[in-house]
Amino acid sequence: MKRIVHLSDLHFGRTRPELLQPLVAAVTEVAPDLVVVSGDLTQRARTREFRAARHFLDSLGARWLAVPGNHDMPLFQPVTRFLQPFRKYREMISYDLEPCHENGLFMVAGINTADRFAHQRGVARGASIRRTCQRFGEGSDDRFHILVAHHPFEQDPSADKAPMKGREAALARLKDCGADVVLSGHLHTWHTGAFLTRPGDPAGPIQVHAGTSLSTRLRGEVNDFALLDMEPGRLTVTRMAVEHDGVHFAERARAVFRREGQGLVAVPGEGVVPKRPGSEGDGDAGKVQRLHKIP
Ligand SMILES: [Fe+2]
Ligand SMILES: [Fe+2]
Repeated sequence: MKRIVHLSDLHFGRTRPELLQPLVAAVTEVAPDLVVVSGDLTQRARTREFRAARHFLDSLGARWLAVPGNHDMPLFQPVTRFLQPFRKYREMISYDLEPCHENGLFMVAGINTADRFAHQRGVARGASIRRTCQRFGEGSDDRFHILVAHHPFEQDPSADKAPMKGREAALARLKDCGADVVLSGHLHTWHTGAFLTRPGDPAGPIQVHAGTSLSTRLRGEVNDFALLDMEPGRLTVTRMAVEHDGVHFAERARAVFRREGQGLVAVPGEGVVPKRPGSEGDGDAGKVQRLHKIP
């Protein structure tokens, strides 16, 4: 089995300091093979924020991979944003804006969807998708092919942010080239399940859309992160969320998928999180997360 921890929207500069050590402890405890961060590592792309983010990543004791988000470009320095939008990110987090990691069971390919001209929306660039498909080998092996981007490729129409440019063509191409999972963030809300842009087609890539793992910028939800546990032909996605005590991460919901043809399908009835002693009244703890949050 292989395990990925998916963090998102850390927003150093607007973090909850009391949550920092619990998050490090939670990630360390689950001993992932890879930590993936889907952007917005900082609040305002300041040097001290990048430094704190890098220190945090290096303290996890695991290999990590990150892509930038819109907050990782300077907002109030238009000249710098125009000429060198990712200078500090490259210097302090990763020179490679579209990193890749692979092993015998999965491949993770990052793409940079942050854009200086579409600061909030972001862009799924054709060149990034083509490179990702080349990396995935057009789905020619049985490994899990996982793309990570900051902006979601599909979102609830009621979301208060404009959807990413180029998302529909990119998603169609990703499906054709063997993508299994798309990891994203940006909206600061949790969602996992099938993309709804393939009506009548039960198998295909799924999305895992993590909320903010560490910041105060909650959208009526709690801080969370995702665990992806993989074994051949089977993927379990677990939402690890802050409990009502406010300082511990615990399993909140789980969904199971199995490989079928060109993609993944949900396995009904296997997503139940066992109730823990004292979890009575924990809201949705112990229940299966709805796979289709988008109407
Ligand atoms: Fe964010
Ligand atoms: Fe964002």
